[in-house]
Amino acid sequence: MNITFDGSARIFKLDTPRTSYIMGIVSEEGFLGHAYYGKKISDDDVTYLMRIFEAPFTPEKNERDRLSFYDCFPFEYPTHGVGDFRESALRLEDENGHRANKLTYKSHSIINGKKKLPGLPATFGTEKDSMTLEITMEDKEAKIEVVLSYSVFEGIDAIARSAKVINRSGKTLKLTKAMSTSLDMDNRDFDKITLFGSWAREKAIDRTAVGYGVQGTCSKRGVSSAQHHPFICLLEKNADYNKGEVYGQDLVYSGNYKTVIERSQFDSVRMMTGINPEDFSWTLNNNEEFNTPEAILVYSAEGLGGMSRAFHDLYREHLIRGYYRDKKRPILINNWEATYFNFNEKKLIDIADCASKLGIEMLVMDDGWFGNRFDDNRALGDWDVNEEKLKGGLKYLVDEVNKRGMKFGIWFEPEMICPDSDLYRAHPDWAIQVNGRKPGLARNQMVLDFTREDVTDYIYNKVKTVLNSANIEYVKWDMNRPLADIGSAELPAERMGEFYHRYTLGVYKLQERLITDFPKLLLENCASGGGRFDAGMLYYSPQIWASDDTDAVERLRIQEGNELVFPLSAMGAHISDCPNHCVGRTTPFKTRGHVALAGTFGYELDVTRIPEEDRNMIPEQVRMYHKFNDIVRAGDYYRLASYSENGCFDSWMSVAKDKTEALVTAVNVMKRPNVKSRNVKLFGLDPDKKYRLLNEDGTDYTSGMGEEGSAKVLTGKTLMNAGIQICETWGDFQSILIHVKQA
Ligand code: DGJ
Repeated sequence: MNITFDGSARIFKLDTPRTSYIMGIVSEEGFLGHAYYGKKISDDDVTYLMRIFEAPFTPEKNERDRLSFYDCFPFEYPTHGVGDFRESALRLEDENGHRANKLTYKSHSIINGKKKLPGLPATFGTEKDSMTLEITMEDKEAKIEVVLSYSVFEGIDAIARSAKVINRSGKTLKLTKAMSTSLDMDNRDFDKITLFGSWAREKAIDRTAVGYGVQGTCSKRGVSSAQHHPFICLLEKNADYNKGEVYGQDLVYSGNYKTVIERSQFDSVRMMTGINPEDFSWTLNNNEEFNTPEAILVYSAEGLGGMSRAFHDLYREHLIRGYYRDKKRPILINNWEATYFNFNEKKLIDIADCASKLGIEMLVMDDGWFGNRFDDNRALGDWDVNEEKLKGGLKYLVDEVNKRGMKFGIWFEPEMICPDSDLYRAHPDWAIQVNGRKPGLARNQMVLDFTREDVTDYIYNKVKTVLNSANIEYVKWDMNRPLADIGSAELPAERMGEFYHRYTLGVYKLQERLITDFPKLLLENCASGGGRFDAGMLYYSPQIWASDDTDAVERLRIQEGNELVFPLSAMGAHISDCPNHCVGRTTPFKTRGHVALAGTFGYELDVTRIPEEDRNMIPEQVRMYHKFNDIVRAGDYYRLASYSENGCFDSWMSVAKDKTEALVTAVNVMKRPNVKSRNVKLFGLDPDKKYRLLNEDGTDYTSGMGEEGSAKVLTGKTLMNAGIQICETWGDFQSILIHVKQA
């Protein structure tokens, strides 16, 4: 890692282990342009890549046609209103309603380490393992400054970017757009990938050609959403999981966002991400500043897999925090699909009794333990234990669970309020609503006004009281409806455009308080499943519930989409009962286990009532988790085959960082008649190391590929170039694990 400034060529160069990112200051005025991002190059002057020497795009030589320059130049942080007619990153409105800004270079600094982003989640680094460049740009006439920040990290091919807008005008300005990052380059017949979905169908991969004009995704739901995700990538036509050039961007933010790709008349592409400017404005008084969320940029010459591994390493080492960051997570059993609202202390103790004997380590009590919450129509906000349901109180229940050698976890939905709740009856103005209009409900609930400190303080104290009342070691923080009818009883009219961002900051502040006061608490975020599974939330919780769809086959697609950006250690994945509650499908218990092993691993079923044959498999699954979780949680991830692409077969592997072992998972989703074994090439191994292939019970796998009893020792080179055979199974939804172990 390194950051340099070449004063004579006026070039900034950021180097990560295998990539270079280059910007140049051009013209007498000092515009900042993007020259190059890609495979590592030498410290040469590559400003020619910005085409400022090609008429009519030369700024100095063409006063007559200045706009040709503005509309073509690869601005590092493009502004609105002066003649760059592509998407802008910055738009400000002054007291006269003018909305045109021109940014030129003012100064810069290069430091070891990385500063915090006030109130926002962001990657962190020490003076030893990170470096930061801050370039201060200014609009001399409007008297605003924009500080562009770039950080690089030791050993990781990723760059963290953000922007800070400072008002020095002596007047009040309105910021209406402030994107986190913008990246211009020539189009190379790129495809783009975005993630789309729905409740129970999160993070499907959408790959399409980049057409002319503006394209991308956004959220207006107040959360990053299940429908889209703030990740976007450009990739060469021939790029796949294991080859080709890929440019990925992910936003460390959980509220309304926008990602943009714009292909211009000159066949350049501009790629940007940040807070969604729709429904956003921010009043900036003199000397006030606004920090954008952070965006992460990854370039990979090793296809999507290389991009994923860079995101995974960065998020594991520089975003996820806390006690459980590098630890195996307790295997939990959650009672949601087991009981829904129909439980009492006896039922939960029965589940704990049975689960503990099987090796499960934590019981999580889901929705329905508080107030009058007998169904999902009421009581959100009334965070007092319902002692009719939990006789003896919460402490009694937790103690009973602890006595059985298990930890205890609990569910909250702190951001919500039901019209039928004591809280709403006492404080109707605490709910988001537009005065005089009946608000639209979702799941019979409204959203609390988290822009207000009196509201968040109240909720926090309720949560804290519950957590202090018993030995509670885990919290599932749920969020089950989008924001609408935006109105806050406290925010003045001219600041109502700040609502969505302030709301998100309110959520962050509360989660920060929670993990500061309870440093050993394991926090798992959730929003009707994966409705807010984003890098912002990962800063507070090392794991996030990936989807309410726990069907093993549906999960293959959902988990593949998650794995594109997020480390497997972050992905909440459970084995549930069949027929599956979302899709009615029946899959083997064993396959459900193999698929859940790719995430945090746990159970979501009534263990006292599942078939005995399934129950008897749990101790073995628990053993597999303990045996393989270090590889899965901390290793390098490679995708070997994609069921969402081929419709019948899925496979992935995790390789330990020291390359001494790996775990391959293969799922034959749909059985095809008369198909021979399937060849898959392995990845990430040491070409010269020798490996054995073992079944999950430790017996030799290779004998199944050849003559009975012919155990083979194969080099990494052979396994990666010639591959192995995955034997065809009988029936649908069958899966295997192969443990690749240094001989
Ligand atoms: C939605 C979550 O995704 C589920 O796991 C469960 O916690 C329910 N909410 C409870 O209401």
